[in-house]
Amino acid sequence: MVAGDLPTVASLRASTEEVLGDAAEARWICEVAFAHRPLTEILHETVTERMVAHLDAMVARRRFGEPLQYVLGEWSFRRLDLAVDRRVLIPRPETEWVAGRAIDLALEIDGDRLVVDLGTGSGAIGLAIADELPLDGTAVWLTDVDPEALEVARANLAGIGRAARNVTIAEGRWFDALPESLRADVIVSNPPYVAVGDAQLDAEVLEWEPSRALFAGPDGLDDLREIISGASSHLRRGGWLVCEIGSDQGVAVAEIARSVGLVEVSVEADPAGHDRILVARCAQ
Ligand SMILES: C[S@@+](CC[C@H](N)C(=O)[O-])C[C@H]1O[C@@H](n2cnc3c(N)ncnc32)[C@H](O)[C@@H]1O
Repeated sequence: MVAGDLPTVASLRASTEEVLGDAAEARWICEVAFAHRPLTEILHETVTERMVAHLDAMVARRRFGEPLQYVLGEWSFRRLDLAVDRRVLIPRPETEWVAGRAIDLALEIDGDRLVVDLGTGSGAIGLAIADELPLDGTAVWLTDVDPEALEVARANLAGIGRAARNVTIAEGRWFDALPESLRADVIVSNPPYVAVGDAQLDAEVLEWEPSRALFAGPDGLDDLREIISGASSHLRRGGWLVCEIGSDQGVAVAEIARSVGLVEVSVEADPAGHDRILVARCAQ
């Protein structure tokens, strides 16, 4: 290809939209391929061969059915742009709500606050919390059983700036990843909560996202049971547990929380009106 043959951003955007049949996806993919420059400012510029190759590769992956977020290699979560790939669950909009709930509870604490994000994956919840809580007096632990997921979380930690100094990353099964003596003010988790064999699970999710991030036994409650049951041992008195749950799990998780002695138990809905968050407190 000689320089004069190189296409413009406008023509590549149009052909990408035609191939994908989706204007928004075409714009996102083009922006990443063209070095994150706003497309409206560069529509009449020609692009390099390297950029065309990058764009072609992304379009091919998307046409093959790979989720847009993995193709882009990044996705936004609250104020952060996170790196995401097949090692981690794609952060969901409803989880932004869960993180927000944990942030609100942590902000009510006078003095220093310690927050734990169990099963951090990309780091979405814990890093958003570190990013949004005051720099002074905040400590956030991020844990995951999957070392590959923690590699992604570490890469994202590097991108949150000064708040990174407040974050500790630890590998291990749920509470096993934490020091025995640690007592948190808030424990937050979006654990796996899909029932094995759930016929309603989206085919794209099943094919592409890590199964370890999704499935939790025959009723989807195996991991929630473990986290809710173990929370009191790692919360300070009066500390809060905040868990994301499936929309049909509210009654069951509230019952588990009460049965293990947690108090002020409530199930809260997400903005779409679905039961989404268990909030419970360690007795004073
Ligand atoms: C639903 S994903 C949530 C990821 C991230 N927190 C988010 O909200 O996008 C659940 C995460 O829990 C981790 N996980 C699964 N089983 C675990 C266990 N037994 N102990 C610790 N983490 C576990 C998975 O590796 C995965 O990263």
